[in-house]
Amino acid sequence: MVDIGVLVSGGGTNLQSIIDSIETKKCSARIKVVISNKTDVFALKRAEKHGIATEVIKKEDFLTRESFDTELAARLKKYGVGLVVLAGFMRIITRPMLEAFPMRIINIHPALLPSFPGLDVQKKAIEHGVKFSGCTVHFVDEGVDSGPIIIQAVVPVKDNDTVETLSKRILDEEHRIYPEAIHIIGEGRLQVLGRRVVLKDGPEPTGALENPPVSIFADKTLP
Ligand code: GAR
Repeated sequence: MVDIGVLVSGGGTNLQSIIDSIETKKCSARIKVVISNKTDVFALKRAEKHGIATEVIKKEDFLTRESFDTELAARLKKYGVGLVVLAGFMRIITRPMLEAFPMRIINIHPALLPSFPGLDVQKKAIEHGVKFSGCTVHFVDEGVDSGPIIIQAVVPVKDNDTVETLSKRILDEEHRIYPEAIHIIGEGRLQVLGRRVVLKDGPEPTGALENPPVSIFADKTLP
């Protein structure tokens, strides 16, 4: 079982899915603390409702990103956190955090990395015209959304999608795969081989998807 600290900046639906998965015993982890860089975000209320300790660290109180991250690492250590889970935490992680938690910080991103790192990625995916998007759980390194990939889930992009409809479809998958990722990390089932993260004794993936699902060869031959 892994002791986690969850970092948030907003609504916290991913935090909620982690809490629910732990409470229903689908994910084996303990949330030691939820830390926000913003006051009054709903994610903090979600944590309080479940009796989880909360802290707020405001960027205005620090001169540099590094000094913010030094304080953040110290607070997480104080709670005995062994794995840091970024759940809609809208800050770039810098060296003091990476050194305090080497390969022990994970993030969820609402796109199929390495496509569409950064912000507003559902809009960018629609505008680019990709046929699939999805979400990615990855280890955090010194780049932006660039660390080794742990797990991804794919969703189709529909012709009539708006940012809202695509975001919702992706978010539903985020809520499924983030607790799974935490669980397999906690079980010590991941092996990191350079950029490749391998699930030890995991099942083989199967199947293929197409979008649009034309399938002209499925049940007829052409005249
Ligand atoms: C999620 O879609 C998450 O993937 C994204 O912010 C949203 C947070 O929602 N994170 C990023 O874009 C990080 N670069 P939530 O607060 O409801 O979990």
